[in-house]
Amino acid sequence: MTERPYIALKGVRKGYRLGEQAIPIFADLNLDIPRGDFVAIMGPSGSGKSTLLNMLAGVESADAGEVSIGGARLDLMGEAARSAWRAGNMGIVFQFYNLLPMLNAAENVELPLLLRPIPARERRARVERVLDLVGLAGRGKQYPGLMSGGQQQRVGIARAIATDPDLLLCDEPTGDLDRASADDVLDMLRLLNRELGKTIVMVTHDPRAASHAQRTLHLDKGHFIEERRAA
Ligand SMILES: Nc1ncnc2c1ncn2[C@@H]1O[C@H](COP(=O)(O)OP(=O)(O)O)[C@@H](O)[C@H]1O
Ligand SMILES: [Mg+2]
Repeated sequence: MTERPYIALKGVRKGYRLGEQAIPIFADLNLDIPRGDFVAIMGPSGSGKSTLLNMLAGVESADAGEVSIGGARLDLMGEAARSAWRAGNMGIVFQFYNLLPMLNAAENVELPLLLRPIPARERRARVERVLDLVGLAGRGKQYPGLMSGGQQQRVGIARAIATDPDLLLCDEPTGDLDRASADDVLDMLRLLNRELGKTIVMVTHDPRAASHAQRTLHLDKGHFIEERRAA
């Protein structure tokens, strides 16, 4: 029996309304991503990359069609169920890190764990473990404002993996970084994919960043074109 793909979009329709005006983004979007894949999504500005990521995150709902992740049908859930599902099953990495400036690195990473019934000791052990994993062992007391962009993004990644989700969604994770820090972050994502088996969907406009993925999909005029699959 063939296993259903980890992520499956079927016949997804999505648009926005601006007053009277309908803005269609996707009329019939289809996508299969197997578990453990590392996919880069490229496409011109306005092609719907963020909209797609937001639908996968369950932040936006599809107007029609099927959005299923790991067997869960996001399109059949209400908003509350989707956000509970999101908190338990995925980590999100943002272009501008989205760290809280009044919390130190460790406290930022701890945030998603506070939503769960995990004893404080275990929480702190997990924070240490993921900070260590992203090369920030011993830096937990530092505040984001005093860190470089690359270090802040490592904290962002540590926060995204704190709950040990199967899926990482990354929206331009290297968009605000210099080349060396970008390479660093991409190496880290690759490690999380290869060593820990995380499925990664990364939106990027940078072909160098995309080259770290196993597969690149180009989004244009509401459809995907597969560009490349690494050997
Ligand atoms: N909340 C919204 N309300 C109305 N239009 C939106 C909204 N979000 C995105 N759009 C429009 O949808 C299209 C796709 O946007 P987006 O997904 O952000 O594209 P990308 O990330 O590829 O640049 C754009 O034309 C954008 O203006
Ligand atoms: Mg975008």
